[in-house]
Amino acid sequence: MTTTPECTPDLLRSLFLFESLSDERLEYLCERGSVIVQEPGWLYRQGADATCFYVLIEGTLVMSRKVAEDEVEVNRTSYRGAYAGAWTAYLGDLVPQVYDQSVRVTETSTFFELDATVLQEVMREWFPMAQHLLSGLFQGFTNRQRTVSQRERLLALGSLSAGLTHELNNPAAAAVRATAALQQRVSKMREKLAVLAAGHLDEAALQTLIKFQDEAAQRVAEAPKLSALESADREDELSDWLDGHSVSHAYEIASTFVQAGLDPDWLDLVANAAPPESLGGAIHWLYYTIDTELLMKEITDSTTRISTLVDAAKQYSQIDRSPHQNADLHELLDSTLVMLARKIPPGVTVVKEYDARLPPVPVYPAELNQVWTNLIDNAVQAMGDTGTLTLRTRLDEEFVTVQVHDTGPGIPADVRDRVFEPFFTTKPIGHGTGLGLDIAWRIVVNKHRGYLKVVSEPGSTAFVVRLPLEGPRIGEGT
Ligand SMILES: Nc1ncnc2c1ncn2[C@@H]1O[C@H](COP(=O)(O)OP(=O)(O)OP(=O)(O)O)[C@@H](O)[C@H]1O
Ligand SMILES: [Mg+2]
Repeated sequence: MTTTPECTPDLLRSLFLFESLSDERLEYLCERGSVIVQEPGWLYRQGADATCFYVLIEGTLVMSRKVAEDEVEVNRTSYRGAYAGAWTAYLGDLVPQVYDQSVRVTETSTFFELDATVLQEVMREWFPMAQHLLSGLFQGFTNRQRTVSQRERLLALGSLSAGLTHELNNPAAAAVRATAALQQRVSKMREKLAVLAAGHLDEAALQTLIKFQDEAAQRVAEAPKLSALESADREDELSDWLDGHSVSHAYEIASTFVQAGLDPDWLDLVANAAPPESLGGAIHWLYYTIDTELLMKEITDSTTRISTLVDAAKQYSQIDRSPHQNADLHELLDSTLVMLARKIPPGVTVVKEYDARLPPVPVYPAELNQVWTNLIDNAVQAMGDTGTLTLRTRLDEEFVTVQVHDTGPGIPADVRDRVFEPFFTTKPIGHGTGLGLDIAWRIVVNKHRGYLKVVSEPGSTAFVVRLPLEGPRIGEGT
């Protein structure tokens, strides 16, 4: 059994923090504080109200921080005079006064313990200048850190645009390829037509072939999507038919006809309409028609995809638009979804419950897109591979409300109070800067005079953004 040593000025003077204090001040500290003995176990836990300041006199302490579910050791020391606990008490309201880490002792240890309020008071009264300098240093550091981390976040978002460039590249290359092939096909078609016209076809047969041509083009548009196995079976069937009718390049033609949804029955109709000696030419001519049609469809699909992506990117970044304007929030949400599409796993269903009555709202659209991005990003990360992401909007009398809801694990109560703090993150180092919600808060609350809150329970988390319909005051907020 250890006896608790008494607090004396000499004892305190032996700790480097207090070495230069006068006897009178050391007496004062001994009167207000006390020496305590701590058995192995927790001295305090991260996140609890920071009420006490501790200086190690003897023993061993271990500092740790919670990272996701794990307790990560950050320091272990037996150094006499090591201090821990509410040491930022002198910053007052500048920081949340909660323990930013946990401390436990691994053997019976002795501490000098001082109330946080006493520490704050003696710092103010005994060292006013140091107190000012420290607050300034702290604020400068926080601002610098914020700027640096914001850049980091921007770089992370920069990967969005890199992803977009990549995604644009595929359809663009496909369109270029298809256009080149198309030019070739069209000139072949002209040749075939000349051959057909010079051959044995009477006018009625030619008319019928043209009818078949129209029908084939029509079928391309409606062709069913087939599995690889189904396609292979049908290709075999068609190339047998073509071989049986002595049509050259049977395999090539069969594969194109299958894509167009043609079958042997349809080819029988063509065979009935064309004289046998012209059948080969007629089939080749149809083949070029269909191939042309398929290529044009590919070009249309690729260019549509390109313009959808470009529209979304423009809408998202608000390039060429005024920073403050009446915006359609649904368009903003949709463009953000397109930009984030690659980050949303296939097992996550996206549901939109948009209120059709929503009027255009006076906002800073580019900034708001940052808000949606951060909220959707968090929701998707929380859910992992499966779940449902719901975007809801609603018109209330003076507000519009946008809700980003996910079916992830939820936010534990002790974490919920801190999620909007800058740099607060539960993600492993390198995975989150902890600035996403801080940025969202500053945009919604400071810049738009709106409000942002979170409602969470296991399996259901909603971030609710409310924006006033009368809009922000221009030039206000940061
Ligand atoms: N939808 C959510 N479900 C569960 N936890 C969430 C959700 N949104 C936020 N959180 C919690 O809030 C913390 C802070 O979120 P914030 O967006 O500010 O930072 P981050 O996501 O950790 O990092 P960053 O956004 O910089 O990548 C997260 O680490 C997470 O613990
Ligand atoms: Mg985030």
